[in-house]
Amino acid sequence: MKTIYETVDPGSMDMSVIDKAGSIIRSGGLVAFPTETVYGLGGDALNPESSEKIYRAKGRPSDNPLIVHISDFDSIYDIVRDVSAEAKLLADRYWPGPLTMIFDKKPVVPKETTGGLDTVAVRFPSHPVAQKFIEASGGFVAAPSANLSGRPSPTYGRHVLEDMDGRIDMIIDSGECNIGLESTIVDFTSEVPMILRPGYVNEKMLNSVIGEVAKDPAVFGNMASGGHPKAPGMKYRHYAPKGSMTIVSGKTDNVIEYITNRIKSKRPDERIGVLACSQNVSQYTGADMIFDMGCADNEIEISSRLYDALRECDEKKIDVIYSEEFDTPDLGLAIMNRLIKAAGHNIINV
Ligand code: TXA
Ligand code: MG
Repeated sequence: MKTIYETVDPGSMDMSVIDKAGSIIRSGGLVAFPTETVYGLGGDALNPESSEKIYRAKGRPSDNPLIVHISDFDSIYDIVRDVSAEAKLLADRYWPGPLTMIFDKKPVVPKETTGGLDTVAVRFPSHPVAQKFIEASGGFVAAPSANLSGRPSPTYGRHVLEDMDGRIDMIIDSGECNIGLESTIVDFTSEVPMILRPGYVNEKMLNSVIGEVAKDPAVFGNMASGGHPKAPGMKYRHYAPKGSMTIVSGKTDNVIEYITNRIKSKRPDERIGVLACSQNVSQYTGADMIFDMGCADNEIEISSRLYDALRECDEKKIDVIYSEEFDTPDLGLAIMNRLIKAAGHNIINV
C-alpha cells in the first residue's frame, strides 16, 4: 500500500487534505492524525472492519480496546448509555482536551472497537486538526496511538512514518504534539471513578472538580508491576527501547557522578546514552548520545520530548541508557509511569 503523506498547518488548515482524509475513513481506510497528546491511528469507530484493520496495522492484540474520538460533546450520547453528573462536570472542565472517559457502550459501537468489552473509552481532543478531521470522518474515529505495538507513541509525523509507512492509507503531519504523553483515562463504570492511566489531567485536577477518585492499584501501586490493570493496554510492556535502560534516582550531584563514572569506564564496544535535563547535559560529555529533555522546571517540555528521546536511543543504536529522574510536581507521575515502563522497572538509588 502506498501511504499518502500530507502536512497540515494547524494555524491555516488546508481543508482539501482534511476532506480527503475524512473520505478515506468513511470508506473504511486508515489515517494517522495529530492530537495534543500523541498521534492517533484513526479508523471509523462504528465499522468493525476498520477496527480490525487498525489492529493489523499496529500488530496489536485485538483484546486491547480502542479509544473513540469525538468532535462535539453531544455526540457522546449516540455511543454511550449514560453520562453521569460527575463525568459531565469533568467534560465541562477538561474537554476538549487530554482526558479519556470510559462508559457503558451502546450497541452501535462494535465489539471489534472495544476489544470485546461492553464499555467504550471516549475522548474529545483539543487539537484543531484532530477536530476537523473527526468531523470530516463522520464524527466517531477509533484511534490508538499510531505506533507499531511495543514502540513508543509517536509525537512527530516522522515517527508515524517510521512505523506506519506502507501499512495505512494516509498520514497527516502537523508537527510536534505539545503534551507528548497519552491522555489520562478515567473509568466511570466502576463504583467510584477510577484513574486507569495517568496523564496531563492529574489527580489534583480531577479532585478539584469531582472530589476523591480511585486509582487502579495495578498501575499506581509502587508504580506498578504485578496485578491486572483494568485498561488492558497497561499490561503490555510498552515504550521499551532496545538498549537496557536504568533510571538513576537521588541527589543531583550523586546522579551526575554515577552516570559520569559509568561513561568513563565504558567498554570500547559499548554505546551509552543519557537522558538529562538541560541544566545537566554539559556534564555528560563522552556519552554516545546525550538527549536534552528540557529545563528541569518545564514539565511540558520534558513530557513532550520523552518518546522522541526513546526513539533516538534506538536510532543511534545505544546499548546502555541512563536516565535522570523527572519526578516533577504536576506531570511527574505521568512522565515517570512511562519512563519506568521503558526501563522495565530498573531504578537505582544513588
Ligand atoms: O492520548 C491518547 O489517549 C491517544 C490519542 C491518539 O488519543 N490514544 C491512545 O490510545 O493512547 P491507545 O490505544 O494507545 O491507548 C488506549 C488505552 C489502552 O491502554 C486501552 O487498554 C485502554 O485505553 N482502553 C480503551 N478502551 C477501554 C475500555 N473500554 N476499558 C478499559 N480500558 C480501555
Ligand atoms: Mg498506545
